[in-house]
Amino acid sequence: MHAQRRLEYLKAIGVDLWVPRASARASAAAAPAADAGAVRDAAASLEARWEALRAEVLNCQRCPLHLTRTQGVFGVGPRRCDWLVVGEAPGAEEDRRGEPFVGQAGQLLDAMLRAIGLDRRQNVYIANILKSRPPGNRDPKPEEVAACLPYLKRQIGLLQPKLILTVGRIAAQNLLGTDSPLGRLRGQVHYFGELNTPLVVTYHPAYLLRTPADKRKAWEDLKFARNVFQQLTQVPDGDRP
Ligand code: URA
Repeated sequence: MHAQRRLEYLKAIGVDLWVPRASARASAAAAPAADAGAVRDAAASLEARWEALRAEVLNCQRCPLHLTRTQGVFGVGPRRCDWLVVGEAPGAEEDRRGEPFVGQAGQLLDAMLRAIGLDRRQNVYIANILKSRPPGNRDPKPEEVAACLPYLKRQIGLLQPKLILTVGRIAAQNLLGTDSPLGRLRGQVHYFGELNTPLVVTYHPAYLLRTPADKRKAWEDLKFARNVFQQLTQVPDGDRP
């Protein structure tokens, strides 16, 4: 029946119909638009906070490393991604180019990540504990870590990765607040920060270049990390449509 005729018919038989007023209909229709607007605002504010943090890092003078670096190295990768890889500190090539892991160790890291389907241009963010190069590629000093780690923690807070993979002893020990040796930290899931982000530990690619026999163990770690990630993101059978 045509809608208008149906209304007339119902009126004729004494049925009062409640018809939403135009304003109510309009605000109901506007609700999803308002939600979309709020989501857009939140995303824009995240982007702004990310860029403000990048600027802060690039201008940082919290420790004397700013005197010897060419530039700060913030990180690389899409800001929205599920994986975060954390290394130690920029080396000579990274300092020159402003991007983490671009030297020989970086090429190996890229190959390792590719083996589990990750790519710094697409689906993994890569950052370091220190944003400035320690001269001569020495280990970071505790006071340098103390000055710089808050930046990485803020990056993690904004990225909210589903899984963190640390490469090398320095990254693992500083994020987990432990001095346990790397060998004892491998092969288990740790949890980082207030969000309890799962964290898996493996060798540093520079170490693997010097000790290729341990590449097999690194491959075990990567498969372990991939399994942890798959379990985190798997939809339980009962919840499938
Ligand atoms: N080693 C690291 O730990 N990070 C880099 O960015 C490069 C080498």
